Amino acid sequence: MKNKGLRVLSVAVILCVTAFLTYYSNVIVWNSVSVSDMDEDSLTVGSVRKLLEEGELITERFHSNSRLKRLPQSIIIGARKCGTRALLEFLGLHPWIQPADQEVHFFDDDRNYNRGYEWYKDHMPYTYPEQITLEKSPRYFITEKAPERIYRMNSSIKLIVLLRNPTTRVISDYTQVYYNKLAKGKDTDKFEDLVIDKKTNAVNTGFRAVQISVYYHHLLRWLKFFKREQIHVVDGDRLITDPLNEINKVEQFLGLPTKVTEKNIYFNVTRGFYCMRTQKVEQKCLGLTKGRKHPYIEQSVLQKLNDFFRPHNKKLFSLIDQRFDWD
Ligand SMILES: *[C@@H]1O[C@H](CO)[C@@H](O)[C@H](O)[C@H]1NC(C)=O
Ligand SMILES: *[C@@H]1O[C@H](CO)[C@@H](O)[C@H](O)[C@H]1NC(C)=O
Repeated sequence: MKNKGLRVLSVAVILCVTAFLTYYSNVIVWNSVSVSDMDEDSLTVGSVRKLLEEGELITERFHSNSRLKRLPQSIIIGARKCGTRALLEFLGLHPWIQPADQEVHFFDDDRNYNRGYEWYKDHMPYTYPEQITLEKSPRYFITEKAPERIYRMNSSIKLIVLLRNPTTRVISDYTQVYYNKLAKGKDTDKFEDLVIDKKTNAVNTGFRAVQISVYYHHLLRWLKFFKREQIHVVDGDRLITDPLNEINKVEQFLGLPTKVTEKNIYFNVTRGFYCMRTQKVEQKCLGLTKGRKHPYIEQSVLQKLNDFFRPHNKKLFSLIDQRFDWD
């Protein structure tokens, strides 16, 4: 009889210690968040996390102590220079979403892919069973083999793709490459020389930045494997002007309750940007690291690009049954 009481007591002690450690490890996780993750692709700021409803989150975590690395249930597949980093940061504010810190490049790089799912999983963050693991690698969008590979891993996965005005995307793409080259002391090309084919005086369809912006062509490949409902298309231009609206739609797509609100994302009039407030950092703003000036581009070149993309855009709109204000 006495023996049994002792056993009950020791079980109780173990439970308490486990609970305490679970709580304590949460605190550690919360305090060791990196804020210096300035991605090449960044539209925005460093990696910051989880400020929302701290009390609730800790209670939620309290009840489950099985933090594991899991394969992602959702992937942001692209496109480059459309705000993928910003979206990942914003979604990271949601307590039930755990983003991977870095672009893993699993499905677009044969060497990584051949290392297998265990390698991929090893690059994922620890999550509780009720959390969603989220990864982003914008190059998946344009990689031939990526749709089939992702389908083979999880045919019911939820995919997120950001698109923005295709001409703006080309300019932004060019600008990033331009400044990277400047920083490395390399020669730079003029925008016009890359985008316009000298012989034909038409848009140079061999220029990669132009190819990426023909979204129709790429999405067609994804829709060979995935149902339309599995791909959520985010308006990358509106993500900058009205982020909450776009984020709330993603929460809905992922089947999550709305947790990202005006409390966490607000417009700072002084800065002229949307900013987010996190536990660790007073404020992080969209557009801060963007500060690169876009080059001056002649109106006639812009016109040529817009005219070139228009028919492709039209095909895209009917393919995805969704329209954007790109004209
Ligand atoms: C596949 O993705 C769906 C949608 O996110 C998810 O519910 C499911 O658990 C995933 N399956 C596996 C084996 O990860
Ligand atoms: C807006 O940004 C400025 C400059 O960083 C800062 O001083 C100010 O406190 C911010 N305003 C709000 C409401 O957070």
